[in-house]
Amino acid sequence: MTPGHPLRLLVTGSQGQLGRALQALAQANSSTDYRFASHAELDVSQADAIERWLDAHPADCLINAAAYTAVDRAASEPATAMMANAQAPETLARACAARNMRFFHVSTDYVFDGRTDRPYHEDDATAPLNTYGRSKQAGEQAVLSADSTAIIVRTSWLFSAWGPNFVHTMLRLGQQQATLRLVADQIGGPTWAGHLAAVLQNLARRPGGETPGGIYHFSGQPWVSWQEFAQEIFVQAHAAGLMARIPTLLPISSTEWPASEPRPANSRLDCGKLETLLGPLERDWRLGLGLVLADPEFQRRIKT
Ligand SMILES: NC(=O)c1ccc[n+]([C@@H]2O[C@H](COP(=O)([O-])OP(=O)(O)OC[C@H]3O[C@@H](n4cnc5c(N)ncnc54)[C@H](OP(=O)(O)O)[C@@H]3O)[C@@H](O)[C@H]2O)c1
Repeated sequence: MTPGHPLRLLVTGSQGQLGRALQALAQANSSTDYRFASHAELDVSQADAIERWLDAHPADCLINAAAYTAVDRAASEPATAMMANAQAPETLARACAARNMRFFHVSTDYVFDGRTDRPYHEDDATAPLNTYGRSKQAGEQAVLSADSTAIIVRTSWLFSAWGPNFVHTMLRLGQQQATLRLVADQIGGPTWAGHLAAVLQNLARRPGGETPGGIYHFSGQPWVSWQEFAQEIFVQAHAAGLMARIPTLLPISSTEWPASEPRPANSRLDCGKLETLLGPLERDWRLGLGLVLADPEFQRRIKT
C-alpha cells in the first residue's frame, strides 16, 4: 500500500453474494479504492485475461469472490468446478504474487467430511464428501503452494439479499406449502455475506506483516440445523409482515432430502484463530437475516 493513498482493492466475481456484499461496503466508505469485475468482465478461467486486467488496474490486494458454487451440479460438471475453484485461484494467486499484491481467497466447510463431534479447526484434516468440496480443497492447496502469504477464509452456509440461497428458497417454499420437511441432522453456522465481506475488508486493510498467510475460519453464530435456520427465517419474515403464516416444519434426516451430493453432518467452524487476530467479530447471523428481510430490494424480488 502506498503511504498517503487509499488501499486499492480488486474484487473478482462481483455479481455473486460475496461480491455484492463487498460492493455494498465500497459504497459506504471512501478509505478503500475498490474496483470490481463481474464474470462477464473477467473470466478467471482465462489466464491471459487475468494478466491483462491486473496490468490495467494496479492494486494492493485482490479478493477472489469468483467461484463455482452449484454443489449438486458440480458432480456432472467436475472440470468446470475444478477450473473455477482450483486452477483459476492458483493462476490469480501466482499473478498477484508476481505483482506483490496480497491475495484473499474464500473456501468452505464442505472441505470437511463432518464426522467429528466438535467444531473444526483450520489444521484439521480435510476429506470432502462431494465434487464441489474436492474442487475447493484443491483450490486451497493450489493457492497456498502458489503463494504462502495468501489468505484463505473458510466460511459456511452463506446467505444475503441476493439469491439464490437458503433464505430465498425458504420464503418461496413457505408461501407455497403449509408444511415443510427440513434437514435436522446437519449442523452449521449460517453466515451473512455482509459479515464475511467486513472481515475480508478488515484483513485487507491490515499491514501485510501483521497477518500470517494461511487458512482462517469465519462463520456465523449460533450454530443451528437447517430446520432451525428455517424456523428463524419464518419467525422473522412473519414479524416483518412478509408472510401471512409460519409453516409447520417437520425434521427429516439428510438421506430424506432430495440432494444428489452428500453434505457434512457437522459443518461447525471454530473461528478462534481469526478472533485472536482481529478481536471479537460481528457474526450473529440472526442480525444479518433481519437486515436481509428489511432490504426493500430483497422484498421487491421475493414478491415477483
Ligand atoms: N454460498 C455458500 O453457501 C457458500 C458456503 C461456503 C463457502 N462459500 C464460498 O464463498 C465464496 C463466495 O460464494 P458466493 O455464495 O458469493 O458465490 P456465488 O453467489 O455463486 O457467486 C460466485 C460468482 O462467481 C462468478 N463466477 C463463476 N465462475 C466464474 C469465472 N470463471 N470467472 C469469473 N467469475 C465467475 C459467478 O458468476 P456466474 O453466476 O455468471 O457464474 C458469480 O457471480 C465462494 O468461494 C464459495 O465457494 C459459499
